Amino acid sequence: MNTAPASETPVLRVGLLGAGTVGSQVAHVLLTRAEELALRTGVRLELSGIAVRDVHATRDVELPPQLLTTDADAVIDGADVVVELTGGIEPTRTRVLRALGAGKSVITGNKALLAESGRQLQDAAAASGAQLSYEAAVAGAIPIVRPMRDSLAGDRVERFLGIMNGTTNFVLDQMDSTGAAFDDALAEAQRLGYAEADPTADVEGHDAAAKTAVLASLAFHSSYTITDVHCEGIAGMTAEDVAAAKEAGYVIKLLSVGERCGDGVNLRVNPVMIPREHVLGGVRGAYNAVFVEAAAAGSLMFYGQGAGGEPTASAVLGDLVSAARAIALGAQGIPLADYAALPAVSMDDVTTKLAVTLAVSDRLGVLARLAQVFADHGVSISTMQQTEDPRTTETSLLRLVTHTGRHADLMATVAALRGLPVVRDVVSVTPVESGEGAHAGAGD
Ligand code: HSE
Repeated sequence: MNTAPASETPVLRVGLLGAGTVGSQVAHVLLTRAEELALRTGVRLELSGIAVRDVHATRDVELPPQLLTTDADAVIDGADVVVELTGGIEPTRTRVLRALGAGKSVITGNKALLAESGRQLQDAAAASGAQLSYEAAVAGAIPIVRPMRDSLAGDRVERFLGIMNGTTNFVLDQMDSTGAAFDDALAEAQRLGYAEADPTADVEGHDAAAKTAVLASLAFHSSYTITDVHCEGIAGMTAEDVAAAKEAGYVIKLLSVGERCGDGVNLRVNPVMIPREHVLGGVRGAYNAVFVEAAAAGSLMFYGQGAGGEPTASAVLGDLVSAARAIALGAQGIPLADYAALPAVSMDDVTTKLAVTLAVSDRLGVLARLAQVFADHGVSISTMQQTEDPRTTETSLLRLVTHTGRHADLMATVAALRGLPVVRDVVSVTPVESGEGAHAGAGD
């Protein structure tokens, strides 16, 4: 225990970039719990400056006006450690590089920046010996970056499946539990503050894809960017898709997946059906979870709040305490181990199953014609159910689930079905995630 008098405790100046929902909570803790943090770290964390866009803006937390400035460079230059919570790519990247270049450790929650320029930031940190920490960038409060980087460093991660976007999980959960249409569920999410006025980054899967790239880089000891992640959002999901999945014992989730595939790794974000009894099937509302399968550890589940001021500030402060301890001990940052350089494998080569709903003419020989298309593509049908089409008496609905196959073959089958005169409409195509591991071993 550090028993040095407060006056003798070394001081670490913390420069904060951004005082939004998360930044203001970080500032609040630094201002009100300095003594406690000093006992934990052996150094006094002194908030030395807060860079904001508008010093007069209304904030959740009252901040000392003398700390607020619009001059981010001055905050960086006057700090020993920089906490970046502004988001965006530029001018943030330039500022983070300025800090790292000067040997100042950086704590960031900026998944978009890491998923675009992570390698550049890691190189800058390695060159100066600074630490680059980003627990808050993936799944908010949930400790997953550090477990992936440190706790599982001696194991071999086979894959992770994550619900890493709370907005879309809230929307899908609303649709599942109330039968709401997508637009209505999204409006409810916006009303309750779970979705932004412009929800594009969440709804289109970009936010989850950035997190997937960041987490996969640690899991598979390789450097990935957001362009390595196959990304589909949830805007096309209908109340009928969700209801049909529910009836079959599944729930639709926007899943972030990183898994070994042949000699590489497939990274994807897309809405999939997972069994309701799978641990991820029970992740409700805006909560996040990451399910990890590792060779020795087996299955691990990380669950908690993926957004919000206080929860995300918890992750930032954890990084800050950790960085302060390392600085106090004179330790350097831990470089990203990306020696494995496993290539990102195309979605085409992933083994998956599809649930397909077709509106078809209900007459003699239709099923035989459809079955022939599946057989021609080497795709086997697992289950099939025919019901009346609630929209019209002219067609029936056929819900088919395939056995596993190469994704490209499954999609070619769907394209061929679409071209058949007896198929009036391909109503939905949703991958099915069994929740069981399908490990094809890429070595590292
Ligand atoms: N908008 C994100 C979410 C939180 O809904 O999970 C920050 O990435």
